[in-house]
Amino acid sequence: MNFLTTIVATSLTLAAASTWASGEETYKAVCANCHAKGVANAPQVGDSAKWAPLIAEGQVVLTAHGYVGVRAMPPKGGKPDLTVQGFSEALNHMVNQSGGNWKTPSSKTLKDIEAEIARRQKGNKS
Ligand code: HEC
Repeated sequence: MNFLTTIVATSLTLAAASTWASGEETYKAVCANCHAKGVANAPQVGDSAKWAPLIAEGQVVLTAHGYVGVRAMPPKGGKPDLTVQGFSEALNHMVNQSGGNWKTPSSKTLKDIEAEIARRQKGNKS
């Protein structure tokens, strides 16, 4: 019984650890590969002038369009299992280093982002 409890507890901890990666961790592991140095003309973190017009698009639109992918920007930052929430937190980290002040999206904002993603994906297919 104790053995089983340990296994269950361990897998719960692992599951929690993988969903709780902070925006900064996801940024460092995924986005920084391109956005730290501006690879392929990716808007560089800290370049407020480049980020200002993107930030002006608003959190819902920019998060959704980045998640779907824009030109040389790969969908989900190239990490197929990245959730909308995980992507959003990583983007917030970049925005907040680049002149913006975005908050972790509320569940309503997340719903709006998901709706915009669906609209965008539909548009891309037709
Ligand atoms: C393989 C390189 C690469 C990775 C990895 C990457 N990006 Fe990008 N990203 C780009 C490039 C290049 C652009 C500029 C696209 C353009 O305008 O042509 C871009 C643009 C963006 C934009 C602006 C989109 C727009 O509407 O113009 C956002 C937002 C963004 N990236 C977020 C992220 C986030 C968040 C991550 C990590 C989860 C990430 N990117 C990972 C290359 C990358």
